[in-house]
Amino acid sequence: MGKCPDCGAWDALESERIEKGAGQDPQRGVVEAWRASGADPGQMLGGGAIGGSGAASTPVAVPIAQATGADGPSRRLVTGIGELDRVLGGGLVPGSVVLIGGDPGIGKSTLMLQAAGLMGGKARDQGTKGPRDQDSIPRSPDPSVPSRILYVSSEESAEQVRMRAARLGAASSPGLFVLADTNLARIVEQTRKVAPGVLVIDSVQMIYKADLDAAPGSVAQLRRCCAELVYLAKLSGIAVVLVGHVTKEGRLAGPRLLEHLVDAVLYFEGDRYHAHRILRGVKNRFGTTLEIGIFEMTGEGLREVPGGLGIGVLDGDSGPREAKVGAVVCPVMTGTRCLLVELQALTATGFIGAAKRKSSGLDSNRLAMIIAVLEQHAGLRLADRDVFASSVGGLRVAEPAADLALLLAIAGAHHKRAIAPGTGAVGEVGLGGEVRSVTQLEQRIREAGRLGFTRLLVPASQRPTKVKGLECVQVKTVSRAIEELG
Ligand code: TYD
Ligand code: MG
Repeated sequence: MGKCPDCGAWDALESERIEKGAGQDPQRGVVEAWRASGADPGQMLGGGAIGGSGAASTPVAVPIAQATGADGPSRRLVTGIGELDRVLGGGLVPGSVVLIGGDPGIGKSTLMLQAAGLMGGKARDQGTKGPRDQDSIPRSPDPSVPSRILYVSSEESAEQVRMRAARLGAASSPGLFVLADTNLARIVEQTRKVAPGVLVIDSVQMIYKADLDAAPGSVAQLRRCCAELVYLAKLSGIAVVLVGHVTKEGRLAGPRLLEHLVDAVLYFEGDRYHAHRILRGVKNRFGTTLEIGIFEMTGEGLREVPGGLGIGVLDGDSGPREAKVGAVVCPVMTGTRCLLVELQALTATGFIGAAKRKSSGLDSNRLAMIIAVLEQHAGLRLADRDVFASSVGGLRVAEPAADLALLLAIAGAHHKRAIAPGTGAVGEVGLGGEVRSVTQLEQRIREAGRLGFTRLLVPASQRPTKVKGLECVQVKTVSRAIEELG
C-alpha cells in the first residue's frame, strides 16, 4: 500500500517480517543458551543473584519484606566516574539494565570504555586476580567493585577497542575483557565464561539473534535481543549497559523502543562541535532523573566537570566579569546541584500580529508570559518585535526561578543595555509584575559567590544568606529589577 489507511500519509509504511514463534517466551532463548553451555540458570556468576533462589525456576509470590536479592537491596557497583554515578543514582545496580542513548559521535563509547577501564583497574586493586579460570570466579572483597567487566563491541574490532582504550589509559586494566561480536548467543556464551559483574554492549543496534528471520538492526531483532539481555541481567545478577544511537529526531533506530524494557535510560547530549557533554537521566528505577552529569571532551577522552561550573560561564567564555547586552546569568538548580547558566535574548524587528517568539532550551510558555509581563508592567513595546531566547550551552532550563534572568535579558536586549558585570539574577516572575520567591535560595547564592559573582538580584520576600564578596539585592518588582540595567 502506498497510502496509510489510518493517517493518510503517503509512503509511510514499512515492511516488517513476522518472526516465527514471535509469541514465544523471550526468556527461553537466554535460559537455553545458559543451559546449553552447562550453567545452571539462576546460579550466580560474578555478581549477586537477584532473587537468589533461582530466578529461572517458577516465580512464587512472597511477602514484600522478603523480596530482597542475595546482596540486599542497596548494593551498587561504583563506576568510578563521579558524574556517571551521580546520574545513575549512586552506581550500577546488579541485575539491572541501563540504556545509554545519544547521537552518533557524541562520546557514548568513550564514556563506557573509560568507566569499564576504571572499574577493571579497581578490581585488581581489590585483590582480584585476572586468570581466565572460569571455575574459580574471583569475587572482590569490596562489593561495590565488580570483579570483571566485559566490553562487547559490535561496531569495532577488539584491536580498535584496544587502541582507543590505550588513548584513554584503560588498555592495561586487568579486569577489563573485550569481545568483538554481534551474535547474541555467542555473546551470552562468552559472558558465561568471563563471568563479569558488568556487561557493556556497544551498540545494541548491531546485535542479532541468528534464529530470527528479521534482518539485524530491525525492530524485531532489537526488541528481542534487548528482552533477552534484560532477562540475562535478572538471571545472572550482571549489570548490563546497553549503548544505542538516537538520531537527531530522537525516534529512529531503536532506543526509544527499548525505553520501557530497561531499568534506566540515560541520554548523552551536547553539540558534537562543542566540548561539553551532558548526561541526563530520562528514566531511572533506582534514582532521580533530576541529576545531570557534565563532561568535557578532551584529547584524552571525557573529563568530568564536577564543580558544576556555570555552563554559560564556561561556554560563552564571558565569565562573570564582562558586561554583555541581552545576557543574564541565573543560578539554576538541577537535582542537587546548582549551575550558573547564561540566558540570552535578542529582539529584532518583526510584524505586528506575526512577531516570532522562539526559544531554545527554555519553556516557550514562560517566554510568552514574560513578554506579556514586560509589556504590561515595564512599558516595553514588544508586539512588533521578534523575540529569540536561549540558554547557553544547551542546558534545558525549565524552572520558574530563571524567569527574572530571562526577563532582564529580554529587557536588556530591547533597550540595548547590559547588566553590570558580575551580576546575576534569580526569581520567579508573577503575572502582576512581582518577583516571587524561589526554592533553595541559599545554595544558589553560595554557588554564585563561589564562582566569583559580586552581585545577585534575589526576591525581596526572601532573606538572603550572607556570602563574602557577594552582595544580594532584594527586588520586589520587575520594574525595580530593570533599573539594574545600566
Ligand atoms: P565516540 O565515543 O566514538 O562516540 P559514540 O560512541 O557516541 O558514537 O566518540 C566520538 C568522538 O569523540 C570522536 O569523534 C572523537 C572524539 N574523541 C575525542 O575528542 N577524544 C578522545 O579521547 C576520544 C576517544 C574521542
Ligand atoms: Mg560508539
